[in-house]
Amino acid sequence: MEKNIEIHETAFMTSMFRAMNVSLSKDSYSKLWNNRKTKAWVTDYLKEVSEEEISTHCVRNRFFLDKIQQLFKEHNIEILINFGAGFSMYPFLLNASLEHIEIDKSDIIEHKKNRISNWMKVGELPKRKIHFLGADFEENYEEELYTKIQTIKNNKKSFVLIEGVLFFLHRDKAEKLFDFFNNIQNKGDYLGSVSFSHSIKETNAFSRLLHFFNARISKTTKEDYLTLQTNFYKEKLAYKIKEHKDYFTYSKEVNHSVNKRETDILNENFYLLEKTK
Ligand SMILES: C[S@@+](CC[C@H](N)C(=O)[O-])C[C@H]1O[C@@H](n2cnc3c(N)ncnc32)[C@H](O)[C@@H]1O
Repeated sequence: MEKNIEIHETAFMTSMFRAMNVSLSKDSYSKLWNNRKTKAWVTDYLKEVSEEEISTHCVRNRFFLDKIQQLFKEHNIEILINFGAGFSMYPFLLNASLEHIEIDKSDIIEHKKNRISNWMKVGELPKRKIHFLGADFEENYEEELYTKIQTIKNNKKSFVLIEGVLFFLHRDKAEKLFDFFNNIQNKGDYLGSVSFSHSIKETNAFSRLLHFFNARISKTTKEDYLTLQTNFYKEKLAYKIKEHKDYFTYSKEVNHSVNKRETDILNENFYLLEKTK
């Protein structure tokens, strides 16, 4: 067993989960990121934490893919800005005329940019317009990132996505990010966010997740992981919640049946917000 997973390597795991049930995730390109090291972690993780993690990640991807596709079709968005994009493949699953900004830590961004440009060159991926930006949400990124985003975005109608990231941030940094979203977006723009609610910490699956991370990433306690109640979103006065789903409710919509007990599932909440002011 390889030890010491870096936080960013959870991004490889997320991609592998999506590749393990393409008919559910609708992500036919995530398999490009598969590699031997991630395969070993994924195998252990599914066994030690929750077997349902393939489906939870696929349903999450499916929710945002469906929503972004729909909003694009209705001419409500022109640019997707993905914060902590990791190795997600939305640009290639969506219409070619949608523009993209992908933001993550610099080393992830560099790696993704190189691999993507090579895959586009050799025809493994269709051509897409993606702007890659490096930033660390735990540092002072606002001024520089604001300028870079505005130069690309101008007044285009945007969809901001933050998926699989908040769990790893401190509460004040999460608040700061949402203030930042408010600053870069205009009235009528959309925001997609994923978070766990506090009750996740009472589940058996969460205890096993903590154990898994402690053995392989670093010693942490349950307070180190950020969970958010729906009120966090309700309190964002410039936004209103358009849709709130979770793994169970969206599974029903896409005809996916859930067989495991609730305590053995890491159930995430998916929020779609619209900026109203
Ligand atoms: C579990 S992955 C999810 C990736 C992607 N959003 C997805 O759903 O496939 C978490 C991502 O958040 C990024 N991330 C975590 N902390 C960050 C920080 N402080 N600044 C920028 N990115 C961060 C990681 O590098 C990683 O790519």
